[in-house]
Amino acid sequence: MSQTLEAQLVAWRRELHQYPELSNEEFATTERIQNWLRSADIRQLPFDLKTGVIAEIGQGEPLIALRADIDALPIDEVAPVEFRSKNPGVMHACGHDIHTSVILGAALLLKARESSLPGRVRLLFQPAEERFGGAKTLIGAGALEGVSAIFGAHNAPELPVGTFATRGGPFYANVDRFDIEIEGKGAHAARPQEGVDSIVIASQIVTALQTLVSRNYSPLESVVVSVTRIEGGNTWNVLPQKVVLEGTVRTHNDAIRAEIPARIEKLISSIAEGFGGRAQLNWHGGPPAVVNTERWAEFSKQVAARAGYEVRHAEVQMGGEDFAFYLHNTPGTFVSIGSASEFGLHHPGFNPDDSLIYPAAQFFSQLAEAALQEIN
Ligand code: NI
Repeated sequence: MSQTLEAQLVAWRRELHQYPELSNEEFATTERIQNWLRSADIRQLPFDLKTGVIAEIGQGEPLIALRADIDALPIDEVAPVEFRSKNPGVMHACGHDIHTSVILGAALLLKARESSLPGRVRLLFQPAEERFGGAKTLIGAGALEGVSAIFGAHNAPELPVGTFATRGGPFYANVDRFDIEIEGKGAHAARPQEGVDSIVIASQIVTALQTLVSRNYSPLESVVVSVTRIEGGNTWNVLPQKVVLEGTVRTHNDAIRAEIPARIEKLISSIAEGFGGRAQLNWHGGPPAVVNTERWAEFSKQVAARAGYEVRHAEVQMGGEDFAFYLHNTPGTFVSIGSASEFGLHHPGFNPDDSLIYPAAQFFSQLAEAALQEIN
């Protein structure tokens, strides 16, 4: 039986991998998940979602939730696999196909034990993680109402298969995005004295932003400011009127997160004014940090060890993950499971080892049942 289920889960993952869909367009993926759940006689809940599926196993209270994300990325796959993406320009380059199969596997294992489950397990197949919107959609739809604890995982290409890592407290970072509009005065390149050089102002701002973290925060704090785009100018002999910068700020400390926009604003406006120009900051707040509940992080480590994983203490990460929105409302924990890919997440050659799926499905079914007992 387990051999059959293991093969089934890998087959489902490879089918999902061949037909990846972008955030909020996961229509065929949603249909596949619905069909597979239906074939296992697992009840689906009538939430009003455009894409994504919510299902449930068991009866009564308490209620806990397992979450998988289901969307893919706008990347052309180059991984040397037989089940390569058949949707041009779209790829499961973050392994959400694996996450989906893992939670489907956990669902099937839990379904087999449904009559002895001490409560209910809700399964969230969440759309649009890559755009950081799907978790909010599910919360808005009421999917977390009554849920006492929530668990989810991301595969970790840098870890070998059979390893498990998590940590209590801050894990993934607050993810914010900014753009800066720098306004100078256009002029002939040969007569710079007649203009205000927005490119020189932009250069000074990029350099000064490098000191924002290093000169204002303890080296022991985790803060990153990166400028990732510079846009300005059309040709070789004209000084442009305007330059736009774009970038991201990553933090774990909410107080630092809150004060950074004002610091950037002060820095850029004083630099621009010093040159006779203007600079305006536009701030786009993203998902908050993933902050794991200490108790559930510890609990999940114990279950993972019993399930045969080599358990490690995870380091804090500067990446983002919209699971954070769930943890803002509900206790729980997010974990990493080794997927041993030579190429990392979001790389066109990303090729995780899908032998991780069945053990991870077993882990999640055991975690769910143990968590229900723990809450009871
Ligand atoms: Ni991902």
